[in-house]
Amino acid sequence: MLKLPGSTLVRPDTHDLFEALGDALTATAMEAVRERGVFHLALSGGSTPEPFYISLVIDPRYRVFPWERTHVWIVDERRVPEDNDKSNIRMIREALTDHTTIRRSQVHAMPVLSTDPAGEYEQTLRDVFGQTPRCIAADGTPRLDFVLLGMGDDCHTASLFPHSAAIRVMDRWIVVNEGEHVTPPDRVTMTYPLLNAARRLAVLCVGSKKLAALKRVAALKAPDTHDVPVSGIRPADGVLTWYLDAAAAGE
Ligand code: 6PG
Repeated sequence: MLKLPGSTLVRPDTHDLFEALGDALTATAMEAVRERGVFHLALSGGSTPEPFYISLVIDPRYRVFPWERTHVWIVDERRVPEDNDKSNIRMIREALTDHTTIRRSQVHAMPVLSTDPAGEYEQTLRDVFGQTPRCIAADGTPRLDFVLLGMGDDCHTASLFPHSAAIRVMDRWIVVNEGEHVTPPDRVTMTYPLLNAARRLAVLCVGSKKLAALKRVAALKAPDTHDVPVSGIRPADGVLTWYLDAAAAGE
């Protein structure tokens, strides 16, 4: 069994894994709504979560999901128009939110084509979280209730790529990440301070091609954000869970 930071849940196949993740997500959403009246969910793009998003729409066990009280945020985004194939918000809308009862105004796309996307998205976070002060940490950072992350073969998560500028940013919630270490196109991404203020973070990894990267994370004695950015995910006062199928876990 891989020893990853936080806790690890392994299921034999993606069907069982998505069910475990969907159940945890739904339980967290209902608890957040009960306790604070609102659920703040941050979603990633990439190929892994798309079938999971579709399962949330199709499987009747998620009919209780409180979409009317949910705000969807985007973990990271490519600086491309929304109708581009590479747009995360396009995938998230098409696979998930367009098929739920969430209001379109509660799905917060990153304004990636504006001149200051990071500043604008931070302002949206400030405005929306400002309506429910119980969702803000003592230092003023918004506390996302659930963040769904993925991990690339190079151990990046969100758009925090090895050796890129964004991994060093500790005084912003959102930044543009670009340059030689960023897989094009340029990105807008949540930073460690915002991600690590979340109540729950889940890293979803499926398939044997993730095993080598997971072994690198498991081999670390301390976080190494430069070479292994996902190891910088260490919630200050929250819970980190890795959701792996047997192939990703090497079992
Ligand atoms: C994105 C992501 C990114 C992703 C990993 C894994 O928008 O691409 O947020 O961090 O989670 O690259 O991608 P796959 O799921 O496609 O392997």
